[in-house]
Amino acid sequence: MEKGKDEPEFDRIFQNAPAKEPERQYYFIEQAKKIVAKQNKALGRRQKMCCVTFGCQMNARDSEKLRGILENIGFEKTEEEEDADFIIYNTCTVRENANQKVYGRLGYLHSLKKKRPSLMIALCGCMMQEPEVVEKLKKSYRFVNLVFGTHNIYKLAELMAQVLANPQDMVIDIWKDTDRIVENLPVDRKYSFKSGVNIMFGCNNFCSYCIVPYVRGRERSRKPEEILAEIRRLAADGVREIMLLGQNVNSYGKNLEHPMTFAELLEQVSAVEGVDRIRFMTSHPKDLSDELIRVMASHPNICPHLHLPVQSGSSRILKEMNRRYTKEQYLALVGRIRKAMPDISLTTDIIVGFPGETEEDFQETLDVVEKVRYDSAFTFIYSRRTGTPAAAMENQVPENVVKDRFDRLLNRVQDIAREQSARFEGRTMDVLVESVNEQDSSLVTGRLANNLVVHFPGDASLIGKIVPVHLDRCQGFYYLGSPAAS
Ligand code: 5AD
Ligand code: SF4
Repeated sequence: MEKGKDEPEFDRIFQNAPAKEPERQYYFIEQAKKIVAKQNKALGRRQKMCCVTFGCQMNARDSEKLRGILENIGFEKTEEEEDADFIIYNTCTVRENANQKVYGRLGYLHSLKKKRPSLMIALCGCMMQEPEVVEKLKKSYRFVNLVFGTHNIYKLAELMAQVLANPQDMVIDIWKDTDRIVENLPVDRKYSFKSGVNIMFGCNNFCSYCIVPYVRGRERSRKPEEILAEIRRLAADGVREIMLLGQNVNSYGKNLEHPMTFAELLEQVSAVEGVDRIRFMTSHPKDLSDELIRVMASHPNICPHLHLPVQSGSSRILKEMNRRYTKEQYLALVGRIRKAMPDISLTTDIIVGFPGETEEDFQETLDVVEKVRYDSAFTFIYSRRTGTPAAAMENQVPENVVKDRFDRLLNRVQDIAREQSARFEGRTMDVLVESVNEQDSSLVTGRLANNLVVHFPGDASLIGKIVPVHLDRCQGFYYLGSPAAS
């Protein structure tokens, strides 16, 4: 995007901006539209933007918002960084190597910028909330035009106006924390038939290994009426599957003016006409209520899937992690869930090599894996995340010991996941079709309500439809099926 001093008087643009949100952002979107239209005209083509996402579902959803604003102000989407006039990296910082990955790619962005000085580069997301990162960018990566954090994603159009007004400077806008939630801005959904919906932002749990509470701020919930209105709009637009998103959805609603529980919200979401599947993540085991189990079990459009991160099977390590449940409490919770929903699919996150983890502690983790029999598990090697209490703990586990435990855990988790996946073989179940199969275009690929992947004969006309499929054969972690006569 061309930066120029001869653009409309930026002083006037900023002076006339309304103070109130979301009106202020609508105003900046309109102003940015005019500037970009003028630039596009001068170039004789539409400028392109490329938004690259690192990390979790929350970031993926934030990127849909960023793309929504950029498309709205006149950019065309591209997946190719080489073709882009505007590149934005939405970063993650949960593990130390996530940061290294971004620094690595900044070198490449610099080479692109040298070839094309008009290229605009923006960095946002969790990594930018770390003061050391911003210092490093200011010192060694001056070619970056815009740096902002996790709290002001919605402000992108305004920030771009600032960049255009100050072409020589690196515009930096990082907020420490905020209560602000700005509603009703444009969103570019990746899929037409399914969508994430944020129900809350931030986290109050401070697990001792985790940086998220520091970079995403304190917990704040969206109002239920805003959430339901968004879901009704999505349903009217043809969306069949909704994923409710929050760092810990089970503590939803505590800070609202009229507090409500997540189970109550879920019940209201499940009543929205046209929504066939509702998922949610992530659930902290300490906050998962019996009321939620009851609501899940009694509403067929709530998917029989729970992502329930255990992190460790050792009660001693769990205490050090500040997880606030014991192994026994976790297993008892799983028992209650399975009693109410015998077919439910359970998935988890596990960290190996937390400071002080002994072989006995690790055996406790393996024991939980054996007892719960997860449908899948994300396994992580503990990363000493600067800024977290665990990083300062003295008894860090040697790398070779952690690696050995990690390999043993992964093998066991995968074997069990294969066995678990096969338990539906021979049944006919509903599949929401997501795409034409990439390897074999005579097949389509979709998901069961429990999130397992199914490939079966079909064509693009099925995308976004829910169809009954006979699950012929389980191949490891996915099924090959055939359309069932309905
Ligand atoms: N090291 C390894 N894994 C981590 N996670 C969060 N912080 C760390 C860390 N410092 C994992 C947790 C969490 C998932 C999103 O990332 O398992 O549930
Ligand atoms: Fe991190 Fe724990 Fe919050 Fe999850 S619940 S985001 S692991 S602090």
